[in-house]
Amino acid sequence: MVAAATGNLHTLFDMKGETDLVTTVTTTGALSFDGIGMTFPDGTEALRNITFSIDKGEFITVVGPSGCGKSTLLRIASGLLDPTAGSVEVDRERLGYVFQDATLLPWRTVRQNIELLAELHGFDSAERTRLSTAAIELVGLTGFENHYPKSLSGGMKMRTSLARTLTLKPPVFLFDEPFGAVDEMTREHLNEETQRLFQSEGFAGLFITHSISEAVFMSTKVYVMSARPGRIIAGFDVPFSYPRQPELRFNPDFAQLSGEVSLALRGSSS
Ligand SMILES: Nc1ncnc2c1ncn2[C@@H]1O[C@H](COP(=O)(O)OP(=O)(O)OP(=O)(O)O)[C@@H](O)[C@H]1O
Ligand SMILES: [Mg+2]
Repeated sequence: MVAAATGNLHTLFDMKGETDLVTTVTTTGALSFDGIGMTFPDGTEALRNITFSIDKGEFITVVGPSGCGKSTLLRIASGLLDPTAGSVEVDRERLGYVFQDATLLPWRTVRQNIELLAELHGFDSAERTRLSTAAIELVGLTGFENHYPKSLSGGMKMRTSLARTLTLKPPVFLFDEPFGAVDEMTREHLNEETQRLFQSEGFAGLFITHSISEAVFMSTKVYVMSARPGRIIAGFDVPFSYPRQPELRFNPDFAQLSGEVSLALRGSSS
């Protein structure tokens, strides 16, 4: 059962290993998982009884050991994969989904890449230009519109990928380790930009990462998954107000919360 927030720091949900701790489903959530299980045809049980929901204005990050089913959970949310148990509720019409790889088309410029999803959704040229100009500005790529991907840094490629998804104004935004391949300084900048976008765009965010600092810095809540079959074994409310400043990372409360997430994560693989 999810505990309510206490004190001025955070809440560590009761950790009882096998017990499913997050049991409250809010069907009005922007994205709701209810009893999700996934066993692949070869018998691999990737997920077991995942139940939680994300409301508008929430940014939830899931951390967990490699292979515990995090990407599988996002694929189920997006409809790419059908779960073998349970159900998902989400509006897939304008679902945002960014991956670890920026997946840009090398023969298209930054602007043309950013307009791709709007094109596939049938927006006319004037509307595409308007949407891409706004998205380019939001991610700080103004001046690079006519560059090709090969002349962009890793961080700029990820900004392009984010901007491409932002053109859809997604009410729900899924992120699968999007900043895993960039250096730490760039990652921190991208984390700051992402929480700014979360604030300005108001989407419900579900973010996957291996970085505890990234999780705590951006999120309203952090869930920890067990080793496969992935279950939610702990959850932490993150109490810091937005916009969060870079210096927050040096705050003792930030360090303490990160330490507790880390402890839960260590326990998760045993
Ligand atoms: N199509 C599939 N068929 C069989 N097993 C699969 C399939 N897809 C994923 N798996 C298995 O399901 C488990 C979860 O995979 P998933 O990619 O979701 O893990 P993850 O938590 O995202 O890992 P990482 O942190 O390394 O990205 C793994 O054991 C993986 O081998
Ligand atoms: Mg993965």
